[in-house]
Amino acid sequence: MSRFTFKINIIVLGGLVLIAACNTSQTDHSWPVYKADATSSSYSAADQINKENVQHLQLVWKFDPEDAPAGVRYGKYECNPIVIDGKIYATSARRRVYAVDGLTGQKIWGFDPFDGARGGGMCRGVTYWTDGNEKRILFTADNFLYALDATNGLLISSFGQQGKVDLNQDLGVDPDSVWVKPTTPGIIFQDKIILGSEVSESYDAAPGHIRAYNVKTGQLDWIFHTIPQPGEFGYESWPPDAWKYTGGANNWAGMCLDEENGIVYAPLGSPTYDFYGANRKGENLFGNSLVALNAKDGSLMWHFQTVHHDLWDYDLPAPPNLVKIEKDGKEIDAVSLTSKTGFLYLFDRITGEPIYPIAERPVPVASIEGEETWPTQPFPTHPAPFSRQGLTEEELTDVSPEAHDSVLQRFRNMRSDGLFAPADTNGTIMLPGTRGGAEWGGSAYDPQTGILYINANESPEILTLHQAGMESRGRFTFHQFGQRYYRTYCATCHGNDLEGDISSPSLKDLGSRLAKAETLDKIKKGEGRMPGFTLMTENEEKAILAFLYDEGKEEIVPRNRNPKTDKGFLNVTAYSYFLDHEGYPAIKQPWGTLNAFNCKTGEYEWQVPLGNYPEKQKAGGPQTGAENWGGPIVTAGGLVFIAATKDEKFRAFDKSTGVLLWETDLPGGGYATPSTYSYKGRQYIIIAVTGTPENPTGNILAFALPRNFRS
Ligand code: HEC
Repeated sequence: MSRFTFKINIIVLGGLVLIAACNTSQTDHSWPVYKADATSSSYSAADQINKENVQHLQLVWKFDPEDAPAGVRYGKYECNPIVIDGKIYATSARRRVYAVDGLTGQKIWGFDPFDGARGGGMCRGVTYWTDGNEKRILFTADNFLYALDATNGLLISSFGQQGKVDLNQDLGVDPDSVWVKPTTPGIIFQDKIILGSEVSESYDAAPGHIRAYNVKTGQLDWIFHTIPQPGEFGYESWPPDAWKYTGGANNWAGMCLDEENGIVYAPLGSPTYDFYGANRKGENLFGNSLVALNAKDGSLMWHFQTVHHDLWDYDLPAPPNLVKIEKDGKEIDAVSLTSKTGFLYLFDRITGEPIYPIAERPVPVASIEGEETWPTQPFPTHPAPFSRQGLTEEELTDVSPEAHDSVLQRFRNMRSDGLFAPADTNGTIMLPGTRGGAEWGGSAYDPQTGILYINANESPEILTLHQAGMESRGRFTFHQFGQRYYRTYCATCHGNDLEGDISSPSLKDLGSRLAKAETLDKIKKGEGRMPGFTLMTENEEKAILAFLYDEGKEEIVPRNRNPKTDKGFLNVTAYSYFLDHEGYPAIKQPWGTLNAFNCKTGEYEWQVPLGNYPEKQKAGGPQTGAENWGGPIVTAGGLVFIAATKDEKFRAFDKSTGVLLWETDLPGGGYATPSTYSYKGRQYIIIAVTGTPENPTGNILAFALPRNFRS
């Protein structure tokens, strides 16, 4: 039962009777930071919506940015909107920024960093800063950090250069040769915004150094080299010159902050190239590490590397959470970290000491030429992983005999020896794959109960290395060469016949939508989840265009070599799923889960499937689970809200039991983390929904209890 008593105001307006439920005594709850607060809790004390009344939730408004220029297809909408005093600040899937009235969904202002151009690129939200007087919205688009006046959406011209800072600068590399595009909003500490970055996953990636900028001036305040330079700690974990030519080790997933102790915790991605490391022999600090930095000056306090010499793209994918652990009768201020591998790590916040022992164990050795796998990897001894690790024959799908048969032979032909089986040219099975285990939406932590909620994916993927450095010995036309190039580098995402898939657009009839120069620009710079292909030779550029635009069928490609990728290997099945004959995961259900871990007892409270494919659900059996992107939130009303799943539903679970209490269909995929706030007596839950072919921009939906609802 709700603790709230509603005052019923009856207003008679020209014969119309409006009943407005409002509760003046209720305090407002904001959501002022990405994932609720600097500790990344995704928790709200709002409790008007609770276990008893959640099934009465209704759609109360929707905000349609409608900012996709004609002909633009939809892209994933991953924003977690922030809410301050009933005002919502959010990015759109086209990466414009909006202020929206939280009561009505009406636009207050909008800002377009692309001046009407296509825009886009993955963006999970914005950062708010105030000194009590001035209010700013900071956000990134392409390689720029912008500062806007939160009251009117106008650029603050005294910030950086006319309101923006170029993030390609100050990295110690040629700014024209790199792309740095943050995807997750930066975090505020005092008058600084601390910012990570998304960089390319390829051989030419920029280093993922973490930077702090002054929020007032845009001046660079400090930089932490995630790939250490001569004289810096960790430099010896690489070949001597690797800091000049390797990249990655970037924080793309966001950070969390211990404000009191002035420590920022940044989980980092893998070093590049992701799947082959012959030119970066060594442990490769701070790749795949959690780094704890002094937020004042960026100096390293402690670090923990979760994967040595990563060959799997096991980026740390989510902001850590600040949690309290009870162990041996003592309460410990800890930081929790989820991973794509399915491990949950817990460290003392100040010292970095693991709360439970982490053992270094021997792992399989690479068979690929030139590679030197690191002999051991760290395995937390407790808690147990929240995802299955390493696919075995017993775990192959049992949805139907046909499904099982369709995967068995392929399974037997590939390498599958556990979590750290390195890639080779035959195919290696990865479980969990690059998409988790845990996801970028991160975990929700309930400070009242000490329970951490983690959503996870259980979908195997395949790694296959091919020698890079394509060569044409005068045998191919540009069209043929382009097709070869396409099959090697593009088909895993865009499909063998350009048809695309759920994450990547179709490239059919490109000519009717995009000029060649635009296409080439996209291919070279990358966009969203698509990496940039900056290393293409002129012949390769011409060939890929010939293939995509169906021309160049006569002219023969002159002899050509690409010296930059010549010696490497490339993962030509990167990010491709291991699926049965009908396209379902090759593994037994569940295919996605929601997990509740109790930090007080150190044990899981429950695990339930997240998402459902009803056609594959066994009669009377549990839901199947589905692939999911985006995170959960937890409320004082006793609920965990999460959308995220491929079945395009939005759900609420009982936070203490995992029982599903409410679900609703969304107009598209809710591949984002919801936010909740209460304002003027009413609690709202909002979620960004990915577009559809009919409505390519997607929208933000708001749910609340009916106005005249009494419980
Ligand atoms: C890892 C998956 C991945 C790979 C590999 C990849 N792409 Fe993409 N590509 C995407 C995604 C995702 C988008 C949509 C980006 C967005 O707007 O967020 C995209 C967008 C595009 C677009 C723009 C389409 C449009 O309608 O706007 C083109 C053109 C393109 N890719 C070509 C290529 C080519 C050519 C290659 C190989 C050289 C390639 N891609 C490799 C995932 C990929």
